[in-house]
Amino acid sequence: MKVNLLSLKGQYGKIEKEVLDGIKKVCASQHFILGENVRGLEEEIAKYLGAGYAVGVASGSDALILSLMALGVGYGDTVITTPYTFFSTAGSIAILGARPVFVDIDPLTYNMDTEKLESALKKDRAGKIKAVIPVHLYGQCADMTRINKMAKGYGVKTIEDAAQSIGATHRGKKGGSIGDTGCLSFYPTKNLGGFGDGGMVTTNSKTLAEKVRMLRVHGSKVRYYHELVGVNSRLDEIQAAVLRVKLKYLGGWTEKRVKNAGYYSLLFERAGLLDYATPPHIEDSNSSVFNQYVIRAKKRDKLREYLKEKGIGTELYYPLPLHLQKCFKYLGYKRGDFPVSEKAAKQTLALPIYPELKKSEIDYVVSTIKDFYGG
Ligand SMILES: Cc1ncc(COP(=O)(O)O)c(C=O)c1O
Repeated sequence: MKVNLLSLKGQYGKIEKEVLDGIKKVCASQHFILGENVRGLEEEIAKYLGAGYAVGVASGSDALILSLMALGVGYGDTVITTPYTFFSTAGSIAILGARPVFVDIDPLTYNMDTEKLESALKKDRAGKIKAVIPVHLYGQCADMTRINKMAKGYGVKTIEDAAQSIGATHRGKKGGSIGDTGCLSFYPTKNLGGFGDGGMVTTNSKTLAEKVRMLRVHGSKVRYYHELVGVNSRLDEIQAAVLRVKLKYLGGWTEKRVKNAGYYSLLFERAGLLDYATPPHIEDSNSSVFNQYVIRAKKRDKLREYLKEKGIGTELYYPLPLHLQKCFKYLGYKRGDFPVSEKAAKQTLALPIYPELKKSEIDYVVSTIKDFYGG
């Protein structure tokens, strides 16, 4: 049996006609930039998340950069995030000339450890910290209740990196609608993935939404008159047309991911594997959308090799924490600074979880893991 980490072909087969119809309409209109599909998708996503506004941009990475720019973060400022995330969470800070400061993660959820956030905020006597970017890793929200409360107390803004978590909830609110801004990615492997790059900034602030709208078109409201120095970062009409079709199915796909995750966890327990391959921990206050199903595994690298031999695709999210990346050497961090992230980078393994995955395939993955541990 062969089980890929992700296959999008089954999903495409079911929506092919609708998607191609949407693309054809865009082609017939010859209106490719900032038209009715982008406007429509912005409204639909804002409604889906319960956020006031949504602004389509070229990628999730740009959503982070434009959020920081809209919040006035720039040269000499400091922004807090975790070292256990996709590169662009911290790259977006550095590219603006601001300094990423890392705080470690919680060992169970892999999300920002709020105690450590508090110590970092307390230490900042010079008031350089302008914002914090919690990441809703693998599809589960960070503790936005505590993070927002602390940020307010210290006069710091919150940017939710919701690239992996569209539809996930924290205390009944959807991720991306809780902080000052939220950042979505429509990269093809995301739960709502386009046919190329795409992203969105969400917010409840009209002022911030308007600022991001300007920033994505070189800082102008009226063409050729520039109030701000912005960038060219727009979601295009073809992507928006595809995403509008897919959004209608997102709820159903998410339910299937959640069901698959539940089935995996049940099988791990039944197989007596919990001490060898620990399933994800979801907080009671959260519902995860399982963009990834990530276990903590003993002898992780050997297990991964074994699974590969048996035709099972896996991935490491992420093998090298950001504080140890070459490009961040100038920040002065060293190995041992963030032990929880460093340990997670050595122990975690993402298994196939996509909606169309069959029960028999999950059975195969877990029984192969059991074979590996000599069960
Ligand atoms: C946590 C996280 N942040 C940011 C991004 C950046 O999104 P994009 O690839 O659309 O630029 C991604 C996705 O790759 C991500 O997983």
